[in-house]
Amino acid sequence: MKYIYLILLNYICICVSYKPVVLIHGVLTGNVSMGIIAARIKEKHPGTVIYNTERFAGWSSVEPMWRQVLEIGADVINISNSNPNGIHLLGYSQGGLLARAILETFPEHNVHNFISLSSPQGGQFGTAFLHLFFPDLVCKTAYELFYSRVGQRTSVGNYWNDPHKQKLYFKYSVFLPFINNLIASNRSESFKKGIVKLKKMVLIGGPDDGVITPWQSSHFGYYGKNETVIDYKDQLIYKHDTFGLKTLDKSRRLVVHEVPGVTHFDWHINVDIVDKYILPYLD
Ligand SMILES: *[C@@H]1O[C@H](CO)[C@@H](O)[C@H](O)[C@H]1NC(C)=O
Ligand SMILES: *[C@@H]1O[C@H](CO)[C@@H](O)[C@H](O)[C@H]1NC(C)=O
Ligand SMILES: *[C@@H]1O[C@H](CO)[C@@H](O)[C@H](O)[C@H]1NC(C)=O
Ligand SMILES: *[C@@H]1O[C@H](CO)[C@@H](O)[C@H](O)[C@H]1NC(C)=O
Repeated sequence: MKYIYLILLNYICICVSYKPVVLIHGVLTGNVSMGIIAARIKEKHPGTVIYNTERFAGWSSVEPMWRQVLEIGADVINISNSNPNGIHLLGYSQGGLLARAILETFPEHNVHNFISLSSPQGGQFGTAFLHLFFPDLVCKTAYELFYSRVGQRTSVGNYWNDPHKQKLYFKYSVFLPFINNLIASNRSESFKKGIVKLKKMVLIGGPDDGVITPWQSSHFGYYGKNETVIDYKDQLIYKHDTFGLKTLDKSRRLVVHEVPGVTHFDWHINVDIVDKYILPYLD
């Protein structure tokens, strides 16, 4: 009888156990900024183990993307290894782009669902959030700073995508064109492997964001040459399925949420957003 109870108990535990969730914060903040999401997940999904990374907080969040990808990525792999049933990964703002690059760089991960919360997945061409850091920065001339060896030593430079200076972008950027597999390397195949194994990729963003520019970048859309925004489905990365976005979409594993009325500094502290667009993917 005792044995049966044990089996039953074990069964119940498996039924209600949620996968661990890794959270990655945005630029110029730390893990405290992800506290509301963490608390809400724990409240609604009791027992969830949350790894809210404290790496690269504050000013160190503008260190090069690759450095952050390798360090936080090593933690994600460690967490993957100790959770053979799988984990989920959520990144906010810059953290969502770091998260995507981690999935590509460490294809041995066992992330099931990846949630990108208002992240510049297509790049960034707006200085709204940078004025604290570079007070005189103007969008039109920012390329002079970012498309240089020195500029590439900042995270923002690594995903600065000036639609009018694409030649320089491809010449200098050491990050975004690579993880988009628009510059082929001996890692391209491996990058794609890390994306196509996901169970779901969830992209959350909206027109009132105010910081991610264009806001469609949160859905892999981006400016064409004349600053007309081209939808993600008409982007080369999708049409040529360079890193697996189309594969995910065609197998119904890509979820795109366009949510109006939310500003950039609200996504991660808005419990409604957590309830409607995040919790459903954290089973
Ligand atoms: C930030 O990380 C530290 C160390 O891992 C942890 O003790 C703390 O609880 C985290 N803060 C939040 C809000 O999760
Ligand atoms: C990996 O995780 C284990 C616990 O599961 C911990 O003891 C170890 O320090 C971690 N290693 C790294 C490099 O974070
Ligand atoms: C890719 O090429 C670089 C040199 O360009 C080399 O250092 C690296 O080991 C190669 N990686 C793989 C996976 O072949
Ligand atoms: C801007 O570019 C898009 C595609 O790149 C094109 O469809 C549109 O006609 C262009 N608009 C103008 C005003 O040139």
